[in-house]
Amino acid sequence: MNSAHSEFAERMLHWQLAHGRQHLPWQQTRDPYRVWLSEIMLQQTQVTTVLGYYARFLERFPDVQALAEAHPDEVMALWSGLGYYSRARNLHRCAQQVVAQHGGAFPRTAEELARLPGIGRSTAGAIAAFCHGQRVPILDANVRRVLTRLLGFGADLSSTSNERILWMHAEALLPHTDLQTTMPRYTQALMDLGASLCAPRNPSCSQCPVQDLCVGRQEGAPERYPVKTRNFLRRAQSWWLLVLRDAGGRIWLQRRPARGIWAGLHCVPVFSSRAELMVALREHASHAAPRELAPFVHVLTHRELHLHPVLAVVDEPQLQREVHAAKGDAGAWFTVQQSSALGLPAPVRRLLYGLV
Ligand code: ADE
Repeated sequence: MNSAHSEFAERMLHWQLAHGRQHLPWQQTRDPYRVWLSEIMLQQTQVTTVLGYYARFLERFPDVQALAEAHPDEVMALWSGLGYYSRARNLHRCAQQVVAQHGGAFPRTAEELARLPGIGRSTAGAIAAFCHGQRVPILDANVRRVLTRLLGFGADLSSTSNERILWMHAEALLPHTDLQTTMPRYTQALMDLGASLCAPRNPSCSQCPVQDLCVGRQEGAPERYPVKTRNFLRRAQSWWLLVLRDAGGRIWLQRRPARGIWAGLHCVPVFSSRAELMVALREHASHAAPRELAPFVHVLTHRELHLHPVLAVVDEPQLQREVHAAKGDAGAWFTVQQSSALGLPAPVRRLLYGLV
């Protein structure tokens, strides 16, 4: 251990006590179920959004057993709006595995945790550090930014061997003493610094507790870290959404296929072009007068969806018969109120609520 390393951990620990977050609900417990749930929800979602979902989820599923026994649709419904739905499917599978293979108790080490569905190395580290004071690092996107700047780590992180080296640095920087107290606080400190002062653009270096240790700061260009050259393409795709409404204001929803975008969620019928949508509409509800609503963009990890909703008010009994006959998809009429209990993609939910 060199002294700059222990200095870094010391400063981070002090800073966390004075300036970090202390009152988030998942900080008030060492129950692995609660910590795991919060870490999964926080993976791609901001704290302010997670708070409400976290409370509702725990009220309905207070422990891992209750979650393992749940119907997948109910898990999806409670997740609805948080996005990245593979997280919800893995969450459910993980709960079932913890019950079936670990007697309902989460394993205690990061190594074992990382073998469960949906738990990567960083999430496993966070759970083991928060709940058991295990001396293991985390390296999510925010922490990667903090540490590459601190170290002046300019190697390209699209290479897995460089990524592995950064993990080793992250481990070397961990506290060495009083781990039950220091590991949770240090872990939170990294997250808090990454979420506040050490911002991607215009970091607030002058307030940073480790500014004089930070190579990126000394070089005068902390923003050049982290370095990642492989640019992934977010493919643009147009989706035409057929919003069928009956005379009573109900909406026609069908379940998305088990694979692909919005897998297993309920959704209005989707078409890849305006022409296809119009053909389907003519077939199933020739009397309906379609009205194009304002298009909007929804960004997913690997896709940019250009959504074009078309509203048509239709004669209900005729449509139900014909859509079933034509497509064989399970579909049904739902009031907007009923649809709120289903798993719906966030933009579809907003669209439907905009109609009432
Ligand atoms: N982001 C990921 N994990 C977090 C945590 N435990 N607290 C705040 N933000 C987080």
